[in-house]
Amino acid sequence: MTSGPTATGPAPTRFILDRYREQLPVSAATPRLTLGEGGTPLVRLPRLEREAGVGALYVKLESMNPTGSFKDRGMVLTVAKAAEEGARAVICASTGNTSASAAAYAVLHGLRAYVVVPAGRVAMGKLAQSIVYGAEIVLVDGSFDDALRIVRELADRHSVALVNSVNPHRIEGQKTAAFEIVDELGDAPELLCIPVGNAGNITAYWRGFVEYYRFERAARLPRMWGFQAAGAAPLVAGHPVEHPETVATAIRIGNPASWQGATEARDASGGAIRAVTDAEILDAYRRLAREGVFCEPASAACVAGLLKHAREADLRDASVVCVITGSGLKDPDTALGVEAVRHETAARVEAVEQALGWG
Ligand code: F0G
Repeated sequence: MTSGPTATGPAPTRFILDRYREQLPVSAATPRLTLGEGGTPLVRLPRLEREAGVGALYVKLESMNPTGSFKDRGMVLTVAKAAEEGARAVICASTGNTSASAAAYAVLHGLRAYVVVPAGRVAMGKLAQSIVYGAEIVLVDGSFDDALRIVRELADRHSVALVNSVNPHRIEGQKTAAFEIVDELGDAPELLCIPVGNAGNITAYWRGFVEYYRFERAARLPRMWGFQAAGAAPLVAGHPVEHPETVATAIRIGNPASWQGATEARDASGGAIRAVTDAEILDAYRRLAREGVFCEPASAACVAGLLKHAREADLRDASVVCVITGSGLKDPDTALGVEAVRHETAARVEAVEQALGWG
């Protein structure tokens, strides 16, 4: 086994491969390396809750995972299983977060990481992560959907483990976020709001809630509301979108791999998958920031959708969880586009006083 950081201490609460091993395909042979994924905060936002008109509004801060996104839950298991099965290298297509996470867990296990991403469409922070973790990066002149098609074929032709969510271990690992929510609230929320891109995460959460309901760990199942960006909303349109476009580059996807999982989650839960515009996404992004939550635009899509549709659904007494899938630090360009009060002055007290209007 490769050496590296592992979960330590008596009753691990953070390390999902230990905490949820009975619900996961983890065996004695599965390497238990961890970067501290899972155990993310569930934070109540009273002001936004009032604005939305819901009973209780929580955000699940998946941005607090080791590489800054929810991908680490699925990746810790997927790369561990790949290593267990003797893989020497992993490959994925990505809009940026999957590749950052794959690169981190690959290096942890001493595997090579190859990432194929759409050129010019990956937020800077995510690209920076893949670079420092030492992945070999291929920028393709195409979309995420093109990149996914290419890596699927490459994984067929070469001896490299595919770690996109078409790998079933990804969904298995990601379902642990639903377990954590139920464990913390004592039951499933009445509504879960989540951004949808390649549709693995909505599939994973639904699986997690259903399993806990079957094990009688939860007394109810939530309704699932998924939100896509209006320029990249194939699940809303009912057909693939050839040229997806949105400011939320993480979910700029025209033909989601887990199409069926997403529609099943929607239909079985009595939920909905809807579109929100880029303007609505950026508005929610700023509103979340004013609550102290700095997320990436894709994450804000689910809050945008809740604010848009809460009143028509009458959620006055309902508990709602919005999944904050990734950190705002990943996408500094979007952040720097937000209007701010900035001054440039000489480095003197009087000059700063004057700039601030205190002089
Ligand atoms: N939010 C963020 C921050 C994401 O990075 C993604 C997907 C999603 C939401 C949507 O999740 O694909 O499971 O429906 N990012 C992938 C990537 C596609 O390559 O990083 P999904």
